[in-house]
Amino acid sequence: MYAQMVDTGLKQVQGREDLSPEERAFQQRIDEGVKIEAKDWMPDAYRKTLIRQISQHAHSEIVGQLPEGNWVTRAPTLKRKAILLAKIQDEAGHGLYLYSAAETLGVSRDELLAALHSGKAKYSSIFNYPTLSWADMGAIGWLVDGSAIINQIPLCRCSYGPYARAMIRVCKEESFHARQGYDIMMSLCKGTPEQKQMAQDALNRWWWPSLMMFGPSDAESVNSAQSAQWRIKLFSNDELRQKMVDQTVPQADYLGLSIPDPDLKFNEETGHYEFGEIDWSEFYEVLKGNGPCNRERLRTRVQAYDNGAWFRDALVAHADKQKQRSADAPRAA
Ligand code: 3HC
Repeated sequence: MYAQMVDTGLKQVQGREDLSPEERAFQQRIDEGVKIEAKDWMPDAYRKTLIRQISQHAHSEIVGQLPEGNWVTRAPTLKRKAILLAKIQDEAGHGLYLYSAAETLGVSRDELLAALHSGKAKYSSIFNYPTLSWADMGAIGWLVDGSAIINQIPLCRCSYGPYARAMIRVCKEESFHARQGYDIMMSLCKGTPEQKQMAQDALNRWWWPSLMMFGPSDAESVNSAQSAQWRIKLFSNDELRQKMVDQTVPQADYLGLSIPDPDLKFNEETGHYEFGEIDWSEFYEVLKGNGPCNRERLRTRVQAYDNGAWFRDALVAHADKQKQRSADAPRAA
């Protein structure tokens, strides 16, 4: 895909003949699979797209806690509550890793959060949908974390060192997230007819938004070609989406659930499932802020940030006091 995407000559890929000697040397390192580190020279545009992608990835992790937080107090058993709490806590950690990776590019946490809170920065569209039943906890783990794993595993091999390294632990924990989600779906599908129907209803509501997580079609993706040339993106949006469909349909069959897509059919020749047209108007409406929960999610994040101001101020005051104390301490002779 990498070569094919780069060679499609898509508008935004800088032709190699236009590169300065520094950019040519940089591209050479990328092509040879050398990891770019924070202190290395890099084109401003490389830095900019990494700040964009890594910070939006971090925002997604943090905002992604909200839909599941809705069910912590209503989990059906203490065990499910403990598992859900552990998962949500993991997501907070993923956000922190990713903000730290973004900060290595010379941007501050406050700048990143200000971009989120002002609505300037994006987070994954998937988190703007409501969680209406306990089965949604299963569907999110199975489909949303399942999609995230497919999208994030290649990022462990991306060209920017801090991002690639942050992804390794994230992916290990995402696997637990996906397993616990599928386990919830299995319990419901083995339960009463009403429980199985609840699982089917959750699949019906989360299937298409999960496919949208992979981004617009390759033809519509404005960043993919350049990100591929810089080996930030190792597979295209459509390739990873196809992988998700191929992996998930047999799992739904095993559960005895039906995928809400009348056009879904297995193509013996290609070995892939063909699936129906995604409703891109819904995708772009959600990106514009008109999804079912966009306003509520952002309001909740801004409120949490404002409510935590006293704690941040106390930490800074404490750190300043410590600094003053060591400055005043008599120098060891
Ligand atoms: N939600 C919101 N915005 C999206 C999107 C989505 N699902 N898919 C694409 N977009 C945005 C892009 O950010 C870009 O806008 P921008 O230029 O203003 O940032 C625009 O739509 C065009 O899309 P492109 O395909 O050209 O953009 P990218 O090359 O950045 O590809 C991406 C989009 C595949 C999401 C890529 O950014 C990526 O791989 N990001 C890292 C992984 C990530 O962020 N995953 C989000 C979910 S994290 C998660 O699920 C956590 C788990 O614990 C549950």
